[in-house]
Amino acid sequence: MQISAAPGSGSYRDSVASPDTRPAQEALSAEAFELFRTMSAADQGHALAVLRLLRGEGPVSPDLSAAALLHDVGKADGGLTLPYRTAIVLLETFWPQTLKRLCGYAEGSWRAPFAADAHHAVIGAERCLAAGCSMRTVALVRYHDVALEAVSSDLCVDLERLKRADDAS
Ligand SMILES: [Fe+2]
Ligand SMILES: [Fe+2]
Repeated sequence: MQISAAPGSGSYRDSVASPDTRPAQEALSAEAFELFRTMSAADQGHALAVLRLLRGEGPVSPDLSAAALLHDVGKADGGLTLPYRTAIVLLETFWPQTLKRLCGYAEGSWRAPFAADAHHAVIGAERCLAAGCSMRTVALVRYHDVALEAVSSDLCVDLERLKRADDAS
């Protein structure tokens, strides 16, 4: 992913160049691609990298492709600027209990981005459902950030692939 200078702008969204979204356009329905386009350039680039990684490993079903591209769509419009993302990584590493406290219901407050990040899998699954994605894609998005043991065995193989590619991208 190409990082560019962003004159006159400090936002995370504006600080990353737009990726080539053709693989997403080819893999998604028109409605799902519209949803994909609601994500920041950085998150679009991350999602495309996850799909690329999966495709490098072997065949990828349409449901898993869509989940790779949309798994973080719940973060769109969540106010997750670079300072918030940095703070989340630091809090997760050093003060997880503090992060947990910050993630409660917080609409309209400065804490809202913490909540958006914490609940992005649920929010993303709802958005995918509304965009007409398959139930398997919706489930993969919903559970991409939970422990595999908590998920039905039917989903496990795809979910494990998605989580591994997500962590590596
Ligand atoms: Fe995620
Ligand atoms: Fe991700």
